[in-house]
Amino acid sequence: MQDVEELPRLGPEYLQNPHELADRLRQEGPARPVLMPDGMRVWLVTGHAEARSLLTDPRLSSDGVYDRLEHQRLLAEGKKIEFSRSLAAHMLNVDPPDHTRLRKLVNKAFTTRTIARLRPRIEEITDQLLSDMSTVDTVDLIKAFALPLPIMVICELMGIPAEDQEQFSGWSNAMVSTAPPEQIGAASGAMAGYLAGLAEQKRATPTDDLLSALVHASEGGDQLSVPELIAMTFILLIGGYETTVNLIGNGVLGLLQHPSQLAALRADPGLLPNAIEEFLRYETPNNMASPRYTTAPVRVGEVEIPEGEFVMVSLLAGNRDATRFPEPDKLDITRPTGAHLGFGHGIHYCVGAPLGRLEGEIAIGHLLARFSRIELAVDASELRWRKSTQMHGLEALPVRLHP
Ligand code: HEM
Repeated sequence: MQDVEELPRLGPEYLQNPHELADRLRQEGPARPVLMPDGMRVWLVTGHAEARSLLTDPRLSSDGVYDRLEHQRLLAEGKKIEFSRSLAAHMLNVDPPDHTRLRKLVNKAFTTRTIARLRPRIEEITDQLLSDMSTVDTVDLIKAFALPLPIMVICELMGIPAEDQEQFSGWSNAMVSTAPPEQIGAASGAMAGYLAGLAEQKRATPTDDLLSALVHASEGGDQLSVPELIAMTFILLIGGYETTVNLIGNGVLGLLQHPSQLAALRADPGLLPNAIEEFLRYETPNNMASPRYTTAPVRVGEVEIPEGEFVMVSLLAGNRDATRFPEPDKLDITRPTGAHLGFGHGIHYCVGAPLGRLEGEIAIGHLLARFSRIELAVDASELRWRKSTQMHGLEALPVRLHP
């Protein structure tokens, strides 16, 4: 086994350009041990076929994985991390049968047909944000557009009051960052407390939103416990926008850096649904699937991952695997994108995919329709990616807009 010091580390350079290291590791083999930014050793999966196969392999478990990670860090650093317990009982942290039960309770709310009913409201919010932007000629597209749009949509859908949305996004940002453990602990505790209070309000006075429905939900007589309810709300809210903001931001950047693709899309807006899938593949919003651990030894290519090891499946790396997508580093909005990993794979496949797709289509479609010319306002080398191994998105995207 390689010494820990010799393992590649997913450090600041990786966070700014994950593709380079991912390519190098994939050439060495589809799964390799690496060090996370905090020094923890995990197996990183970079091959497409292996990613798909591992995401459906029952020997990889999500059950209590965040508790295990916390324990591991405590051992490694002799430090205390306090990811709030009440946020941990969510869908991405459990295996069947609990996972099946939790997922059933929300499946109906997120079918393509149910979500299509939100179109007029999403268009309204989008158009309002675009109107606010048209008064200035240089704007940070993330702050003014890609971030507020999905936050407003998911908060409205869940029933989070408008005045609390800013505070909410601050907590969320801290929780998916590489901030010190104490800060992550404080943010998750504050969010858990806030959600518990809100759920109590909805129990006493239900309103027409998903949180009220979940408080009173039952599936075959089964109800959510209070920690499950809080955790469910948390994962829907975080899942609902941390990723969509990156789809919009990364998609627009991709178009600005590939003028021929932008021109093709402007000439034929019918290409938009496939373009969205290609954005999800080309600059995958969720770099890694949530962590899993092996409950038995698992062979991947020529290596065997022993039992009890953490496995991170890089969806971003799998989506650039040339054995599945020819010329993977080329953005091509007309290419077949079947089996891309942008929404994951297997039982944890994104429950909100229809909503993410719809928001992406409306956001990018309306942006292009409103502005005849959009250009980067800084040199591309000045753009910075968020310091997160999970989320792959820009910190800011300054652009100049022309009506
Ligand atoms: C473009 C937007 C989105 C992207 C790229 C995305 C990506 C993903 C991915 C990759 C997973 C699988 C993670 C894993 O296997 O570890 C996932 C799961 C999930 N997503 Fe999304 N997502 C998006 C939008 C949404 C929205 C709008 C919602 C909520 C309304 C949502 C809620 C969830 C939930 C609850 C799960 C866990 C499902 C489960 O464990 O069964 N996502 N998402």
